[in-house]
Amino acid sequence: VVAEESASFRDVLDSGGRIEPRDEMPEGYRRTLIRQMAQHAHSEIIGMQPEGNWISRAPSLRRKAILMAKVQDEAGHGLYLYAAAETLGVDRADLLDQLHDGRQKYSSIFNYPTLTWADVGAIGWLVDGAAIVNQVPLCRCSYGPYARAMVRVCKEESFHQRQGFDILHTLAQGTPAQKAMAQDAVDRYWWPSLMMFGPADSGADSGGHTAQSMAWGIKRFSNDELRQKFIDMTVPQADALGLTLPDPALTWNEERGHFDHTPVDFTELFEVIAGRGPCNEQRMAHRVGAHRDGAWVRDAAEAYAAKHAPRATA
Ligand code: 3HC
Repeated sequence: VVAEESASFRDVLDSGGRIEPRDEMPEGYRRTLIRQMAQHAHSEIIGMQPEGNWISRAPSLRRKAILMAKVQDEAGHGLYLYAAAETLGVDRADLLDQLHDGRQKYSSIFNYPTLTWADVGAIGWLVDGAAIVNQVPLCRCSYGPYARAMVRVCKEESFHQRQGFDILHTLAQGTPAQKAMAQDAVDRYWWPSLMMFGPADSGADSGGHTAQSMAWGIKRFSNDELRQKFIDMTVPQADALGLTLPDPALTWNEERGHFDHTPVDFTELFEVIAGRGPCNEQRMAHRVGAHRDGAWVRDAAEAYAAKHAPRATA
């Protein structure tokens, strides 16, 4: 790690190459990656909770099996990302401590409740759909371990998004009550899904990291660019579902080549990020409790590893 960008670091980035763990890198680049990758991993782990609540209440054995597979995938995504973050010289135990004591974040979207089965469909279709839009460019991130972790994550996210769409399609084609349940879920999850992409790129509601992250090839597109891309691909899908998106301003703008839409209310995003969302306390209490209850597993794994560690030769 070096204080400033070195010529070798910049050469790798400018040639579209990848920085590997043992390559020279500026401390700021390393810290930015640790921050983003750790928070990405935390999001995957916390993200298991909203859908996990519905595994025991899925409407059929098939839906239960699919949902179990999806929640297990999210755990695996978290582990890939913690492992990738550890290549930067941090320890996942410390990253989890930072999550638990609020020094690190997780995605705002997981602080919303899952009130009906249709929410599981809305999460798969909208939340995992948004995650795909955000994560596909990360497969070309300048940091090798992060980019490679994203390749497998994105393949599994496609299954997550498809099964969510399928749940909503089934409901929208069902009884009027089922269609109303699907519409209610979409109404509640649309705006929080747009907020997943982060604050605005500029102005009072801007976030602050994008320019540097793009200069370092960590981010390939800005928050607003990816948000617009997600809106453009999702509106036709809502039409195919026979469901409406809760924004009357959504209209195709031929000149822009994009859908116009009502501006996102970033005050809600900042409130949720500040811990004042609908489920922040519940999610963190569950996470900290699970970590505490799982201590014996970690202790047993460490004892086993120590017992079977190759004997130091005299
Ligand atoms: N929720 C919580 N915090 C958020 C946020 C959100 N939706 N959007 C932004 N923030 C935070 C940032 O972390 C940053 O705070 P920090 O300095 O304490 O880290 C601050 O708000 C400023 O935002 P910026 O946009 O300037 O920050 P970034 O450049 O880090 O961009 C990001 C934010 C777009 C989320 C980026 O970090 C990113 O692309 N991360 C990787 C993808 C990711 O983490 N996705 C989260 C969902 S995971 C998921 O969906 C799993 C799937 O299986 C469902």
